[in-house]
Order: sequence, then C-alpha cells, then structure tokens
Amino acid sequence: MGNNNKKIAFSGIQPSGDLTIGNYLGALKNWVAIQDDFESYYCVVDLHALTVRQDPKELRLRTLKNLAIYIASGLDPKKNTLFIQSHVPAHSEATWLLNCFCYIGELSRMTQYKDKSQKIGESVSAGLFTYPVLMAADILLYNTDVVPVGVDQKQHIELARDLAVRFNNLYSPTFTIPEPYIADTGAKIMDLQEPEKKMSKSADNPNAYILILDPPNTIKKKISRAVTDDIGVVRYSEDQPGVSNLISILSTVTHMTPKDIEKKYEGMGYAQLKADVTDALVEELSPVQKTVKELLEDKTYLESIYKNSADKANYVANKTLRKMQRKLGLIPR
Ligand code: TYM
Repeated sequence: MGNNNKKIAFSGIQPSGDLTIGNYLGALKNWVAIQDDFESYYCVVDLHALTVRQDPKELRLRTLKNLAIYIASGLDPKKNTLFIQSHVPAHSEATWLLNCFCYIGELSRMTQYKDKSQKIGESVSAGLFTYPVLMAADILLYNTDVVPVGVDQKQHIELARDLAVRFNNLYSPTFTIPEPYIADTGAKIMDLQEPEKKMSKSADNPNAYILILDPPNTIKKKISRAVTDDIGVVRYSEDQPGVSNLISILSTVTHMTPKDIEKKYEGMGYAQLKADVTDALVEELSPVQKTVKELLEDKTYLESIYKNSADKANYVANKTLRKMQRKLGLIPR
C-alpha cells in the first residue's frame, strides 16, 4: 500500500527502439486507465536498453521521447511518478543483491532470453542474461502490488515473485509479492507481416510494426500491407492470425468486443476492416503525436518532471534497499 492507502503499480518500457502500438495497446493504455486507482510508478528503463548495444546519442533522445510519450498518452505527471531508471541507483544495487539469490537455471529458462540470445549468438552479454533480475529489482523496490504489462512479460514477473518469496522466507517479510496485470485485449499485438510472432520494436522489417509516432499515411500503408489470408471472412480465430490481430487492434482501440466486430463485418471483405483499423489508429494516435512534438520542444518541462520524480523514487527505493542490506548483514553507513 502507498501512503494514500492505494495499491501500488509499477511498470516500464525500454528506450531500445521507437515504441510500437504493441507497447501502446499492451501497456501504456492500461497504465492510463488505472491511474486513478493506484499509486503508480512508471519508469523509462534505460539500463535495460543497454543489454544490447545502443548508440549513446540515440539512447538519450529515445529516453526523453519515451517520457514524452508516457505523458502524451495521458499519464498525468502529478498523479504518477514518471522517472528514468538510471536516476535511481538503488535499482542497480538491489540487482546485485538479488543476483545472489537467483539461480542460473531460472534465468536460462526465460523464453525472451532464449529467443534474443539465439538471434545475437556469440556476443550475448551477461547483462542480457541477468536482465530479469534488474526487472525484479525495479518491481520489488517499490512494494509493488500490480505490474501492468503485455503477455510477453509474464514470465519475468513470475521470477520477480519467486525471488521475493525466497528472500522473505530466508530472512523475514521484506517484499510485497507482485501480481501481473494483463488486460483481456491488446496484451499481445502481433507482427503485421508474420502474425504468428509478437509485434516488436526491434523487427528488421518496418512493415511488421506500427510506431506510435508513425504519420497517418505510413499507418495506412502498413495496415494495407498487413498479411491476412484467403478465407475472406472477418473472424477472430486461431487459424486466421492476421485477421484476428487486426480485430484485436480495433477492439482495444474502440472497446468493441471481438464478437461485436465479427458481427459488424459479416459479409464484408478485409478492405473495410483495414480501412477502419487505420482510421481508429489515426484517430487514437494523432493527439498523442501532437503532444509528443510539443513536449519535446520543452526540454525544461520534461527535465522538471524526471527530476522531481527521481527524488520521490529515490526516497522509496532507498528505504527498501536499506531494509535489504540490513537483513543481509551489511553494516549501515
Ligand atoms: P518492453 O520494453 O519490451 O515492452 C514494454 C511493454 O510493452 C508490452 N509489449 C506488448 N504488449 C502487447 N503486444 C506487443 N506486441 C507488445 N510488445 C511489448 C510489454 O509487455 C511491456 O509491458 N523488461 C520489460 C521492461 C521492464 C519492466 C520492468 C516492465 C523493465 N522493468 C518492471 C514491468 C516492470 C521490457 O523489456 O518491456
């Protein structure tokens, strides 16, 4: 519980590429939806982005852009603590401590690590391997109750839970055990070219994803090229992954259920569905894009947000870190 008796929410997005509608529909939109119900911490996880090579200039810009996107998507900086992960050193310190409680076997079983390391090959870093421990530190330092994320992060949250339980059992109750918060729709937006795969900001083919900041004509082009099938019926089913993905996107943006969408498009082809998905996305994203542009022109404002938030985040995180250190037998300074 936070100071105001609200439960605590924590989440983050990596500034490792431009954010996609997967990040928007699977994470951001839910953060906005729950902002009055939880005391929330949303972090731009720049340390996580370092697990794969980044261009320093690009990383700086993308970190600020992520923060601007958080605000432009509707997160009120007065209600939410919006900060940059590396501004709170406790995350790195707690990661070391938790590393000493995490088993190599557990980390080897993380599907995201297996996928990514296969792609990277020889030069996969130790950071990529221990990345879920940093994520556990992020979550546990804030006594987090819920972690709003897309489906792909569920396994990492389970590890955070396991580490919290292990530490609590070995010492004494220290951490709140966090729960994932995964919405019914939008939690797994698929790749537009290979709809069996999750949409990812690191895909090689730009037609595979739509970025939050893609202009209307790009959105139109990408949706028109989205892979469907030759069945010709708008149906939400496993054997029509491309069409089902378009239905998911439309459903998450408009709040119509997939069933209602199937009904609405009875007897119509995919062209109408694609046109409507395009319109819905453009309508949803245009105001976000306009505000991001304005915010990026006001760096002083962004700086005031991340500085104030870092003060609050440091205060809370340090309290938990001190508790961990004390229980482990480290001498307080
Ligand atoms: P990241 O940066 O890959 O993704 C950020 C958020 O977007 C969601 N997401 C999706 N949701 C639906 N469909 C998709 N195609 C899609 N792609 C991404 C993710 O589930 C996530 O919620 N390790 C995390 C970041 C992180 C974090 C944390 C999250 C670091 N510390 C603490 C929660 C709590 C990551 O790489 O997410």
